[in-house]
Amino acid sequence: MPVSTRIHMLFLLISLLSRLGLGRYIEVRISPFPMLACCCIYKHFARCLDMLATEGQFTFMATQPQLACAAFLIGEPSEVISLELSDVNIDCSAGDFIKIFDGWVLKGEKFPSSQDHPLPLRQRYTDYCSSSAPGGAILSSQNVAMVFFRIHSPDSGFTLTVEKKHNPLPCNIMSQSPEGSFTMVMPHHHWNCSFSIIYPVELQLTELSLGQAKSNELSPQVLWRGCTGSGDYVELLGGNGVDTSKMYPMADLCFSPSGLTQMKMGCDNSVVRLVSSGNYVNRVSFRYRLLGRDELPQAAENSLDDFCTVE
Ligand SMILES: *[C@@H]1O[C@H](CO)[C@@H](O)[C@H](O)[C@H]1NC(C)=O
Repeated sequence: MPVSTRIHMLFLLISLLSRLGLGRYIEVRISPFPMLACCCIYKHFARCLDMLATEGQFTFMATQPQLACAAFLIGEPSEVISLELSDVNIDCSAGDFIKIFDGWVLKGEKFPSSQDHPLPLRQRYTDYCSSSAPGGAILSSQNVAMVFFRIHSPDSGFTLTVEKKHNPLPCNIMSQSPEGSFTMVMPHHHWNCSFSIIYPVELQLTELSLGQAKSNELSPQVLWRGCTGSGDYVELLGGNGVDTSKMYPMADLCFSPSGLTQMKMGCDNSVVRLVSSGNYVNRVSFRYRLLGRDELPQAAENSLDDFCTVE
């Protein structure tokens, strides 16, 4: 992995942990340089707390008891992540474990939320120490996954092989960067999809097409029932955790009113959630950019009603 990518991912990890209230982890000693092992083979060593954004083999070797470690994995929006453990040398009977999670967990909150993930929560965990653990690689359902581990004795460890695979229909997505653009498409599936940006951003909707109500066409039925009654709509959510079902709805859109195509969202996490009935082909396109420090909401103005909203 190029050293610059590695450093970028570490900054992302540090800013994520500090803004989402996990500052205590930041004391973890961080050295941004991958170690060079042997003559010409890069061997990547993972730290107890790490963010991995590239393919490769990562070896974790405990030098002292490591009781609460986690590796956050992230890919591009249209990728899923394949994870395979090898050379595992841990003592399950002594309380060591390695668990793979299909998504991210931060402060006890999960992304994607249980509501939006295709699998029940229990099936999103793979426990290496469990007798029912499948052999071979595990494929995530979206562009993020996580590995938790606890290792008591020094010189115990494991190797994790990370590969990216193309996802033809990305549904739940965590953005790697605070600026960019994306088009979410949901063709005839009764699925809900969230695009999560873990930064305060200004969001600009550039296209919205929800089957029955094309951009700028207001059907009286939609107006009468409101968006949530229509079965197909877009929600803009703001909050300070990663579980979209616990976030504050900042706007519901089921057509493109000419006035509301742009919004400043001042929370730590900004989400575009597309709710689909399965009856239509739904599509939403948007652009986003990081809010400047002077654009963030003033703490004193934060009441429940204008939570995270920025004028
Ligand atoms: C999608 O989200 C809506 C509103 O949050 C919910 O009522 C519905 O049950 C969800 N559908 C699926 C398939 O999860």
